[in-house]
Amino acid sequence: MNASTGALLRRYYDLVAPEYDDWYLGRGRFGQRDAAAWDAELARLTATIAELPPLRTLDVACGTGYLTRHVPGDVVGLDASAAMLEVARRQAPRATYVQGDALALPFDDRSFGRVLSAHFYGHLDESERGSFVGEARRVAEELVIVDAAIRPNHAEEETQHRLLADGSSWPILKRYFTTERLVAELGAGEVLPSCVRGRGASTRRSST
Ligand SMILES: C[S@@+](CC[C@H](N)C(=O)[O-])C[C@H]1O[C@@H](n2cnc3c(N)ncnc32)[C@H](O)[C@@H]1O
Repeated sequence: MNASTGALLRRYYDLVAPEYDDWYLGRGRFGQRDAAAWDAELARLTATIAELPPLRTLDVACGTGYLTRHVPGDVVGLDASAAMLEVARRQAPRATYVQGDALALPFDDRSFGRVLSAHFYGHLDESERGSFVGEARRVAEELVIVDAAIRPNHAEEETQHRLLADGSSWPILKRYFTTERLVAELGAGEVLPSCVRGRGASTRRSST
């Protein structure tokens, strides 16, 4: 079974929240990777986000707010995990936060100019993707997706058994994208500069 949604996934993210930013910061079990390459890629991604035209933005599945800090303009962060939101409120206090479900957004139609969602779409199974994109299209005209690019040591879709510091192991659905595939799934779009080097797959798609 995958912990793709629901109570099991919420439990996983509640537990991972205190150590989630180790992934961004190269700490703990992420200490072995090529730090210079990672930092350069992350700098490109945060610059790409920071250079978006300022619009009222909903950051869906905002997690710890690590990227939310770089979103220009008025920002609301939404996440299902209370523990993630607790970190986000400390780390990215400029935004306001709402606990909620990305597949049933608690907002009126067109209440935002943009939905941004990072490292979330690739965890959704087939039945959830349509709900997520439909909800994003309903609340905002523009959708920006940041997700993982395909790489040699991973299948396009796999169940990863993620170990937490407490020794527990969690089955997590994870997909890796070519930019073409991500754009095709979203219907249409524009590829933003952080994927120029082919590592990050960031796509902006307007609803028109
Ligand atoms: C891999 S993290 C990404 C966090 C952040 N966007 C980032 O890029 O660092 C995925 C996030 O999705 C949240 N999440 C999972 N299912 C959700 C749902 N149905 N609605 C809202 N958030 C959800 C988790 O709590 C977690 O914070």
